[in-house]
Amino acid sequence: MARDFEQIGIVGAGLMGSGIAQVCAQAGMRVILMDTDAGALEKARENITWSVGKFIEKGKVKEDKDTVLSRISGTTSLKDLKDVEIVIENVYENSDLKREVFKDLAAVVSENTLLATDTSAIPITEFAAVTRYPERVLGLHFFSPAQMMRAVEVIRGVTTSDAVMDDGIAFVEKIGKRPIRVERDIAGFLLNRINFPSTIEAIRLVEEGIATVAEIDEGMRLAFGRRMGPFETGDMVGLDVMMTAMMSTYEETKDMKFYPPVLMQRKVTAGHLGIKTRKGWYDYNEDGTRKD
Ligand SMILES: NC(=O)c1ccc[n+]([C@@H]2O[C@H](COP(=O)([O-])OP(=O)(O)OC[C@H]3O[C@@H](n4cnc5c(N)ncnc54)[C@H](O)[C@@H]3O)[C@@H](O)[C@H]2O)c1
Repeated sequence: MARDFEQIGIVGAGLMGSGIAQVCAQAGMRVILMDTDAGALEKARENITWSVGKFIEKGKVKEDKDTVLSRISGTTSLKDLKDVEIVIENVYENSDLKREVFKDLAAVVSENTLLATDTSAIPITEFAAVTRYPERVLGLHFFSPAQMMRAVEVIRGVTTSDAVMDDGIAFVEKIGKRPIRVERDIAGFLLNRINFPSTIEAIRLVEEGIATVAEIDEGMRLAFGRRMGPFETGDMVGLDVMMTAMMSTYEETKDMKFYPPVLMQRKVTAGHLGIKTRKGWYDYNEDGTRKD
């Protein structure tokens, strides 16, 4: 059946969930943003309000702020997602937690709802396997910041139907992004399989004292036309999130090229997770700008 994607559910209102909610609202969709933590919902609204303002200032959003914001409602109850056409799960990168959420979701949504996960690296068939609707589970992997990055991987699990893949592609196009088809469900999917080894090599070069973090970032920006170097990206994504995703990819492949280097592991242990903790590869001020 054709879906209009007028009403979207998002579970998890952190960095990714709030960014995706904003993208959908800017595309004219109504969004129900669910999080078990009411504080996270409040923070998400503040961040979205600020970010929509920036898009309007730059002329990239033509509607007024209140119109866009009025399309997003927050809730702490999963039951409020019962009428949405697609749910995009964005809770912590933890397989057990995500499985629980998928189990609970399947009990709440209608029998036509698409169930998508934004996991960074966990094979999505793990979540399909615990629902009553495995053919309707797919991966929609966004990149941070979701408001800016245009690529979204659309991932086919072992049980995902062709129609659901097509619907996933249509949804991504409707929010103004470019779908990147991933036809097989492997840990790390497509783009991170390419990106992780390069990030890991950059960290190893720092460990060996070959160059500094700042030098590598600037070199990568200037040499390869990237907007951010690997360490700047790491601080934005969160070192914990990235390390967990590398580990999932390593666990499946047993290939050391995906194994998070010791320096990264220690930083995560120390709580130096990037912009969100004001300290990661770089130090940050309260407003998230970098201390230089
Ligand atoms: N950070 C990135 O750059 C990035 C990029 C792509 C994908 N991802 C993936 O997106 C997901 C979310 O990452 P994030 O960086 O936004 O995390 P985050 O820590 O910013 O947010 C996670 C949110 O999930 C909420 N949550 C936890 N348990 C919940 C539950 N049972 N029900 C509802 N909400 C719950 C938390 O309260 C929190 O607000 C992860 O799977 C991550 O790997 C992250």
